[in-house]
Amino acid sequence: MPEVNIWRKNYNRKDTKYQWRRELEFLATLHPYHGFPKVLNAGLDANGEEFIDLTHCGLSLGVAYEQGKIGLDAAYLEFRALLRVMKHEGIKHRDLCVNNLLWHPEHGCHIVDFGIAIWFGEPDVPPAYLAPCSWGIGLDGVSDELRLRASIHQLKTGEIYTETDWRNGKEIWSYDF
Ligand SMILES: Nc1ncnc2c1ncn2[C@@H]1O[C@H](COP(=O)(O)OP(=O)(O)O)[C@@H](O)[C@H]1O
Ligand SMILES: [Mg+2]
Repeated sequence: MPEVNIWRKNYNRKDTKYQWRRELEFLATLHPYHGFPKVLNAGLDANGEEFIDLTHCGLSLGVAYEQGKIGLDAAYLEFRALLRVMKHEGIKHRDLCVNNLLWHPEHGCHIVDFGIAIWFGEPDVPPAYLAPCSWGIGLDGVSDELRLRASIHQLKTGEIYTETDWRNGKEIWSYDF
């Protein structure tokens, strides 16, 4: 059956409004690649609110894992490849967390939510607003790779790896290639 779902993101939150056009730019840059939402439409709705219509990228990784759709080691490898693509394009996501890692039955692993992403070279200062799923690890100087591992670790163990853990050099689950 063809994919018919559309996922709409509305930008009616004051704190994220400045990022709207930037999010479109990040997604346009990533458009040629597998693993990121495609922008189907963007503009102002009848109420004058900014919106983006995106391709539907499936379930959160946690749900896909619970349903036995994909293993976490395999997911880690897939997401790592997507991180490599973002690095190649000069994009730092900064908000990788269990809710921003998705899995689609036909299209596999996806990274969503470029709401606080930056281009390499821009100051990596924490934004005023941070989604609850990202509270644990903090943002200051932490790499996307570490946030990915912390997210997978959280799904594997139920433990949240915090910024304090990171500063204390606490061991985190890792994978040898
Ligand atoms: N393209 C998509 N397809 C399916 N679900 C999505 C898509 N984009 C986002 N979501 C879901 O909606 C949630 C919120 O969207 P997100 O872009 O992360 O906005 P926010 O800035 O509010 O975190 C995500 O955590 C994810 O579960
Ligand atoms: Mg999000």
